[in-house]
Amino acid sequence: MKTESIILHFERYSDPSELNAQERMLLERAHEATANSYSPYSKFCVGAAVLLENGEVVEGSNIENSAFPSGLCAERVALFAASAKYPDSAVVALAISARSAETITDPVMPCGACCQVMIDIEKKFGKPFRIICQGEVGEVFVFDGVSTLLPFAFDEKYL
Ligand code: THU
Repeated sequence: MKTESIILHFERYSDPSELNAQERMLLERAHEATANSYSPYSKFCVGAAVLLENGEVVEGSNIENSAFPSGLCAERVALFAASAKYPDSAVVALAISARSAETITDPVMPCGACCQVMIDIEKKFGKPFRIICQGEVGEVFVFDGVSTLLPFAFDEKYL
């Protein structure tokens, strides 16, 4: 038996003002998208914005349902909408923002199911995309591809 280790790298910004203009704009779009959240059950409003290679930005927000599992996270709403509208345009970056009754000061991370969806999108286009995470205010974490968030993902090689 051997014990293996993985080192994960990510970028940590104390404030969005440290981001480049394009990523700052995308995070702002994600923040705006929190206004479209339908989250009467959790009252946790998430916004996501996807930047595509063709220059388009597609937004999404979390949409909940009284039959809880039928709702969907903001990230998947945005990624599926982008994929449905522009199936041939690679994803360059995805920004995530969230609001709640109390100000969220920690970056909000995508859930495992959203990361699993990101894995397939990266595979489809053959390249990783940037994942930019913030709460409502404060620090921003940036990941250069979803493998940092889900290093042991299930993928098509098993099928
Ligand atoms: N949610 C997202 O939309 N994205 C995340 O990254 C985490 C969680 C949503 C799902 C649900 O509507 C609410 O936030 C509380 O979990």
